Amino acid sequence: MQAAMPASPSRSVAIARPDGRVGVPALGDARMVGSWSSGPVGDTPGRPLDSTLMPSLRAPRGTRDLLPAERAAFGRLERIAADLAVRYGYRPIETPLFEQGAVFERGIGAATDVVEKELFRVAPSRGEERERWALRPEATAGIVRAYVEHGLATWPQPVKVALTGPMFRYDRPQAGRYRQFWQWDVEAIGDPGPAVDAELVELGLRFYREVGLADVEVLLNSIGDPACRPPYIAELRAYYGRHETALPEVERERLATNPLRLLDSKDPAMAALNAAAPRITERLCAPCADHFAAVRAHLDALGIGYRVEPALVRGLDYYTRTAFEFYRSGAEGQQQALGGGGRYDGLVQLLGGRPTPGIGFALGLDRVVLALAADGAAEAEVPHPVAVVVGADPSATAERLRVATELRAAGLAVGAELARRKLGRQLEAAVREGAHYAVILGDELADGHVQLRDLWAASQKLVPLADLAALLRRKGGASPQPREGSR
Ligand code: HAM
Repeated sequence: MQAAMPASPSRSVAIARPDGRVGVPALGDARMVGSWSSGPVGDTPGRPLDSTLMPSLRAPRGTRDLLPAERAAFGRLERIAADLAVRYGYRPIETPLFEQGAVFERGIGAATDVVEKELFRVAPSRGEERERWALRPEATAGIVRAYVEHGLATWPQPVKVALTGPMFRYDRPQAGRYRQFWQWDVEAIGDPGPAVDAELVELGLRFYREVGLADVEVLLNSIGDPACRPPYIAELRAYYGRHETALPEVERERLATNPLRLLDSKDPAMAALNAAAPRITERLCAPCADHFAAVRAHLDALGIGYRVEPALVRGLDYYTRTAFEFYRSGAEGQQQALGGGGRYDGLVQLLGGRPTPGIGFALGLDRVVLALAADGAAEAEVPHPVAVVVGADPSATAERLRVATELRAAGLAVGAELARRKLGRQLEAAVREGAHYAVILGDELADGHVQLRDLWAASQKLVPLADLAALLRRKGGASPQPREGSR
């Protein structure tokens, strides 16, 4: 039986655009991924869409579909996150994608942008009309709600948990800012620190290193506690109040509701004013100053470099003391934070529990994928079958399906050629799928044999069907890495 000798397939695909370049979406295009193709995965890689056939139904603005290549890139990040969580002792947790609105209003703060402007409110169409729900804009408040609801305070403390999943914020969509985005969220509840603060900062940095972003830095601050922050905020309000006429309108509004946020305004008109503003790091009470010094000492002991940034205040109200954000070096614009977190020693009590300290972070996975793509490094393994069952008789689909089903039942990743096309075309498709072997069904099947073709080595031999599963498993069970130069 003859078959064209194909080149060995590549096992990983970059996120490719129709023009063949590794894809980074155009700035401002928050819907970009729907138009990306997945390189060698599909039958017609990169085929431009015919504009006359464009569907009128589309994913909502600010959301996007993760097609297989990009889903694989996310999957890789999720696997690294899950592996790190095991190594560091953070156990998996899941909370609902929507919660009572009060969880976020009380937890994150009614005067924050996230709650005031960006919450997706959910109204049921019938029943339970009095419930007011919202899609989760972040995971911390829901996890703390679960900690209180299920009495996790009775477990050995701290309770260390992590989840990966989608979050929702009704923000203005732009590059790196979506209405549905993915976070890896990690929380340690019940530990006042300072050592766990350093553990989390180090864990965040390790994630970036392991995914392939070596230049991520951490910016660190302490934003005080209920003893020292109120007088600091009063001082800040007085300071900005003296310069009220110089404030842009949006900042003037913020001065009334959340003066801390003026500090990290990216408006150039605020730069000089902010540089001369009173600094929280110089107004910390003694316990907060000691805590901050101890966090830094722990980071020093781990050899972790960090930059103290007194203007870093975070956008959620629950923070106390330690606050931190992760950036690629030189990319510290507001939209560029790859992740952030901090201590929330008042949140458990705020949501109905006993006073309990807590700290955590969330890393934005969409932004990590974008950063990797910008480096041309958004390679992700798309799983390939070890073999595809093909056949000399185009119409013998039941036979091909039966043999593939037996191999799948034996635990192997095996494709079945179910189209009624010629053997040559079937083999070409098997190569496109990235299979190492083709199991070729022909006349020999009558006495229990098949041809096993090594698509990468151009060799072929007759093997008993009864031995096939064991043979494929011995050969790796999954596609071995193609040899260098054979792609
Ligand atoms: P956050 O700073 O609001 O913190 O979000 C964390 C990260 O999520 C951001 O640094 C960014 O990478 C990503 N992110 C936020 N909004 C968007 C968006 N619209 N589109 C794409 N990515 C986005 C929190 O969410 C806290 N819950 C973190 C935390 C956990 N603090 C304590 N524990």
